[in-house]
Amino acid sequence: MKATNTIVIFGASGDLTQRKLIPALFSLYRKGRLPSDVRIVGFARRPYTHEDFRNQLREGVKQFAANVFDSALWGNFANRLWYAKGDLGTPSDFENLRIFLEKLEDEPANRLYYLATSPDFYGTIVKNLGAAGLASEEESWRRIVIEKPFGHDVESALALTDEIQTVFEERQIYRIDHYLGKETAQNILFFRFANTIFEPIWNRNYIDNVQITVTESVDVGHRAGYYDQSGVLRDMFQNHILQLLALVAMEPPASFNADAVRNEKVKVLSAMRPIDLKDTVRAQYKGYRKAEGVAPDSQTPTYAALKLNIDNWRWKGVPFYLRSGKALAGKNSEINIEFHSPPHVMFNLAPSKKLMPNILSLKIQPDEGIHLKFETKVPDSLQDTRSVDMEFHYSNSFGDKILPDAYERLILDAINGDASLFTRSDEIEKAWRLIDPIIRGWETQNTPALAMYEPGTWGPIEADQFLAHDGRMWRSVGDHH
Ligand code: BG6
Repeated sequence: MKATNTIVIFGASGDLTQRKLIPALFSLYRKGRLPSDVRIVGFARRPYTHEDFRNQLREGVKQFAANVFDSALWGNFANRLWYAKGDLGTPSDFENLRIFLEKLEDEPANRLYYLATSPDFYGTIVKNLGAAGLASEEESWRRIVIEKPFGHDVESALALTDEIQTVFEERQIYRIDHYLGKETAQNILFFRFANTIFEPIWNRNYIDNVQITVTESVDVGHRAGYYDQSGVLRDMFQNHILQLLALVAMEPPASFNADAVRNEKVKVLSAMRPIDLKDTVRAQYKGYRKAEGVAPDSQTPTYAALKLNIDNWRWKGVPFYLRSGKALAGKNSEINIEFHSPPHVMFNLAPSKKLMPNILSLKIQPDEGIHLKFETKVPDSLQDTRSVDMEFHYSNSFGDKILPDAYERLILDAINGDASLFTRSDEIEKAWRLIDPIIRGWETQNTPALAMYEPGTWGPIEADQFLAHDGRMWRSVGDHH
């Protein structure tokens, strides 16, 4: 007998469910991509009826994903939504959940447990799932999706993995990094390995340096309590930025499956050299300490820049510069690959003129696409040159609004049992091993000093000086910093 499918969301009254998960599930439903028998069960403490829950989610989709909302279809979708009231820390509530699910499902039913709660509850939820018999697989599968942050340092991440693995096997664990669900992040592998022209030059012989920039205009807002304990390295680098870097730097996997892809990512993460504190910049935006939930003397960085080296044949001597921050002038994520300058310049350029290196830019968001910058003779000049851009924009080639939200793909993959775009325990561990010593070094040695920057700028001057010190500068499509 074929199994039906149930998704159980823990933390169902929270932000993530409302803003991301339900809009993604509804969009998949609209496109006919969800299994037609799917049931979605929300578990949380509020005393909702099924109807209250459906109404609340409906408002969420209307507000946060107006472009996917469709009132005619919502009614059918809403019939698939259910609510189970319960407390994450109360084992008997998980017993009740099991009874509720068994009544709802035609046996056997696969179950995807989605942990959209605060990370403090991950261990408890898993334990309670195990104790209530909700994790056992007989005629159907059980999988668990876990949001970031996965631990707050290497020890806690390893401990969390151990805790989860007392109930679920690694093959059942899907650790989400939503950046991997972004089309543009997925396309890094297609750009590199579905084409022949770039891969031969994707190495130290042709590439001078690689830069990954992820800027955000939002400040820490209502998440200040969480953020002040976390800071930008834990919030953005340990996960999203190192994942982007792994995709850019990894060797070609032999096939596109979860083991092969993740093995290569682990290999490249293992080749990353421990980062020296002198190769870091940390900064905080002015006014951050006034946010509610932030300590008045907080040293938490809201911005960081790092220089990282990869000790292998492909990348030896090629610095990777990474930067990210909040309360900046704009939201922009891009990867810039700067090629070596020509070894000899035969043109008679004006003394003030320098040839620009070729730069390949992978725009992750917004205005998703790929740009290639190269030098061109200015028409009607004798020998003057100017940089021009060869551009690919998703919106031009595929139409506006073509890019699905990252969660759509990830939820679907988890249902289909494809873990390629999820992070394995060894990746998480390697990433923490890189990031942890920096955080500890900052805290214990207080070096480099915490720089300050004005909100609404492109970050601290120290970040520019950091690259200038290496004779380089931050690159960006369109030339903002
Ligand atoms: C989250 C971080 O993981 O990613 C947030 O916790 C950050 O602080 C967000 O704002 C950025 O995601 P995106 O998809 O908006 O770039």
